[in-house]
Amino acid sequence: MCTVVGYIGNSFCSTFIFEGLARLEYRGYDSAGFACLDANSHKLLYSKSSGQLINLTERVKKEPIDGFLGIGHTRWSTHGDTSQENAHPHFDCSKTISVVHNGIIENYLKLKEDMLYEGHTFFSDTDTEVISHLFEPIKEKENVNAGDVAAIVQQLDGAYAFIAMLQTFPDLLIVVRKKSPLCIGMGDNEMFIASDVIAFAGKTNKVIFLPDESFALVTKNNVKIYDFAGNELSIVVHHTAATFETADKGEHTHFMLKEIYEQKNVIIKTVDSLQSKKTMLLEQLGFSTDQIKNTENICFVACGTSWHAARIAQFFFEAVAHIPVSVHLASEFRYNSFFPHKNTLYVIISQSGETADALEALRLINAHGLSTIALTNVATSTIVREAGGFLVTCAGPEVAVASTKAFSTQLAALYWFVHYFAYAKNAIMQENLLQAEMDIIHVAHVLENALEQHKDIIDHIHAMHYAHYDKALFLGRHISYPLAMEAALKLKEIAYVFAESYAAGELKHGPLALVDKNMPVYIFSHRDPIIYQKLLSNANEVKARGGIIIAFAYADQNELIELAETAFTISAEIPALLGPLAMIGLVQYFIYAVAKERGCPIDKPRNLAKSVTVE
Ligand code: M6R
Repeated sequence: MCTVVGYIGNSFCSTFIFEGLARLEYRGYDSAGFACLDANSHKLLYSKSSGQLINLTERVKKEPIDGFLGIGHTRWSTHGDTSQENAHPHFDCSKTISVVHNGIIENYLKLKEDMLYEGHTFFSDTDTEVISHLFEPIKEKENVNAGDVAAIVQQLDGAYAFIAMLQTFPDLLIVVRKKSPLCIGMGDNEMFIASDVIAFAGKTNKVIFLPDESFALVTKNNVKIYDFAGNELSIVVHHTAATFETADKGEHTHFMLKEIYEQKNVIIKTVDSLQSKKTMLLEQLGFSTDQIKNTENICFVACGTSWHAARIAQFFFEAVAHIPVSVHLASEFRYNSFFPHKNTLYVIISQSGETADALEALRLINAHGLSTIALTNVATSTIVREAGGFLVTCAGPEVAVASTKAFSTQLAALYWFVHYFAYAKNAIMQENLLQAEMDIIHVAHVLENALEQHKDIIDHIHAMHYAHYDKALFLGRHISYPLAMEAALKLKEIAYVFAESYAAGELKHGPLALVDKNMPVYIFSHRDPIIYQKLLSNANEVKARGGIIIAFAYADQNELIELAETAFTISAEIPALLGPLAMIGLVQYFIYAVAKERGCPIDKPRNLAKSVTVE
């Protein structure tokens, strides 16, 4: 979740480091820091600030520091509050060694206890600081050798990616990785180090993805990589096509709003891209038509909003491909009993492709030699590199922490994929696949039309009215239940409103006790007449207890619309399975407007980060 960035070369490093940190700030924005070795004296200089990167940028503008090697960090706090003292870099006793770190040192308390006993001085509450102190024995040596670094990393448990810079070695950065991502961009007499290639996209296309449990000794024109036993490893240089598009809100007040509005186009782009790759898709997926034919189960693994997409896709696969599906939270998957099954296709869904829980679940599945594919929005991500095959959504960079267009493009890609899959299995005809493509594009338009139709009334009436409530219940059935979960997550995340989602049939098994005139109950309808009737009964139960109903319904569902205090409708002319995709834009917009009315920092909600690279 934190970002580490480093530079060593012939140029002053601060411009690159601040630009790299800014590109990756979505990973954490609790505090920021920068350290470099002064170009003349080689003295270690540093600057830190609590809060967003802009605070540090302003500080360094007023009190400039720079050098030919340096390290930078933005933090998502795990140990210790978000203060300036806890901002990285962290130091040894004499402040001549500095370290920036992403991850968690699980045994730091024991190490710190021993170090305090030996007389070391600590300046922060972080787990990271022990790393700097571990480097103390090598700072007076003539050379840093692999054995010395191996002896240090062998003492550290947990997940970590860190860069160490020592005042006594002004030509060297030490870069270490266990689980957390880290890569090195190889320039001409300069090296760029970062948590993600996007930090140095445009500077070089030569990249080394540091292997898991390895470290590198990096000078401006050389990289040597070693495993944790100190054995030298051969280097694999990849060529990356990663580019960085400057994210710009345009005329929108927030990135989230811009991203809500981009949905129609990126859904269409995603379908176009999948359509155009049809003939070579099997190769990209890493399996054969026979393997598809033999697939007996689908197993989805994901977190957060991506998990909601998987819960919705479960209905796609069961209804269209007639194949049983299980859906797992990645954070639970690794600690549950695992029954590897060779005819199961394991699908990891992750917008960022970097989520630690999803990555570790993938590694567990890979270790059993099973078929894995990744569905992500970032083709250069770790999950794509480690999965057997991949599908990519074309949402473009999603800047707001709350996922919107990444979710809708996941739904579009999964709806397309189930038809591709069912066709390859001879379960449907080619016409059905072509119809599915047209349906997704039609629904992308429905999504945008629904937004346009309700936008003004939400802005002028509903946002103000519903912003006063501090709790909410979200109900759905069948495919609209995971949509209700996703809506509840959005309200918690960006509006700081306590929200609980339930399968509507469970209402009378407990949550009905909560319903009164102070509790908005959001009901997400369904196209299927039988399921709709059941939802209607639930709406009546809420109404009878004085509850306030906000309904997301189809245009012809008059009974539900009449029961609701407020009803939003979408065109009735869409396939039932695409209901969540058609409704989601409207749902997101409504919640966005409520959060805006409540004065919340919508794009960067407190305590969260866009990419969750710690478990
Ligand atoms: O990058 P991923 O899709 O793996 O991220 C998973 C979750 O962290 C993410 O969806 C999170 O729940 C969003 N902030 C929700 O809006």
